[in-house]
Amino acid sequence: MKQRIRIGMVGGGEGAFIGAVHRIAARIDDRFELVAGALSSDVERSKQSALALGIDIDRAYDTFTAMAVQEKQRTDGIQAVIIVTPNHMHFPVAQAFLQQGIHVICDKPVTRTLEEALALEQQVRESGALFALTHNYTGYPLVRHAQHLVQTGVLGTLRTIQVEYAQDWLTQKIEDTGNKQAQWRTDPSKSGLAGCLGDIGTHAFNLACFISGQDVEEVAADLTAFVLGRQLDDNVHTMLRFSGGAKGMLWASQVAPGNENSLKIRLYGDKGGLEWAQESPNELWLSAFGEPTQRLTRAGATMSPVANAASRIPAGHPEGYLEGFATLYLDIANAIDALEKGADINSVQGLIPSISDGVVGMKFIQAVLKSSEQNSAWQKVAP
Ligand SMILES: NC(=O)c1ccc[n+]([C@@H]2O[C@H](COP(=O)([O-])OP(=O)(O)OC[C@H]3O[C@@H](n4cnc5c(N)ncnc54)[C@H](O)[C@@H]3O)[C@@H](O)[C@H]2O)c1
Repeated sequence: MKQRIRIGMVGGGEGAFIGAVHRIAARIDDRFELVAGALSSDVERSKQSALALGIDIDRAYDTFTAMAVQEKQRTDGIQAVIIVTPNHMHFPVAQAFLQQGIHVICDKPVTRTLEEALALEQQVRESGALFALTHNYTGYPLVRHAQHLVQTGVLGTLRTIQVEYAQDWLTQKIEDTGNKQAQWRTDPSKSGLAGCLGDIGTHAFNLACFISGQDVEEVAADLTAFVLGRQLDDNVHTMLRFSGGAKGMLWASQVAPGNENSLKIRLYGDKGGLEWAQESPNELWLSAFGEPTQRLTRAGATMSPVANAASRIPAGHPEGYLEGFATLYLDIANAIDALEKGADINSVQGLIPSISDGVVGMKFIQAVLKSSEQNSAWQKVAP
């Protein structure tokens, strides 16, 4: 019988947001088993949360440092850790587990600062462990199909890339009302120097690079904290110059009333264009220039193998956020299994966002911040 991969989680305790999503996603294809956790910064809540999830009491740890050391000593210790804490804890937690040679699955943005990201990149390389960054939007079948369409030249030479990620939940100063998710996201000591830019702008940036296959070389940006007294940006506009010659624009906002989780992307080349929106993830609009626009559907006719491999149920049955997330977990499970069988670490990353994607995201943040400080002057993104 195939053994499930043993995982532990840091963060994601009762009342937390994304930890529960990771737990569901990791179970959709039944390849993982959650056996250990340091689930909260509050020791009591950490233990309560672990018990509620069926984790043995001796593997409900007070701290992530104890968890890393003690799990390594067990013959049935965890093979991978999931990091779903606020941003400032990603770096120390990832370090602790990589030191033990344990694979790391970490949410974005990868760290609080670029310096931390670079140090982590070095450590990942030396550890030989897998590092997966959960830019989960890359797991949607139609996002992978969009990448395939670009790669196979269906759009021709890319000219323009428009990407936006709009939400409205920070329209008012809810960080002052006790909302924990809002509190740490608007606090530079926990979030990093970027607010909305780091929180959702990095997803939009990653999506544009993933589908286009191009890097962003230069940015001209305008960041704003519209809500009075807020320390970090809640809105960002930036123009983008891509390595392959495409020009683009990225808008991310958490103060756009009426928008729940509106991530959208449009790419146009000299032969055609395409459009995808996260809130209607089962359809992709493809236009060959001069021909009627086609509505391509998830698991429908003409899907690429890479898109079909990321679908679980027949066309017409909606799949979405959880399944897209689960596809990353499926890729991670396959990568860990291959490593256990002796595969080379450099051969298993595939489409899984990596530590390098995390570093690039932090370089993007740095360039955007610098540009905005200089009245939107063009800034190079560090190579
Ligand atoms: N990929 C996505 O779509 C997505 C969506 C939301 C959040 N995120 C990212 O996930 C991370 C968590 O975000 P969230 O909204 O779930 O935050 P949250 O505030 O809801 O949860 C954070 C959890 O981390 C715990 N924690 C803090 N310090 C800890 C420590 N030292 N040890 C153990 N646990 C600790 C908290 O107690 C809490 O349980 C962030 O980095 C965020 O950017 C990603």
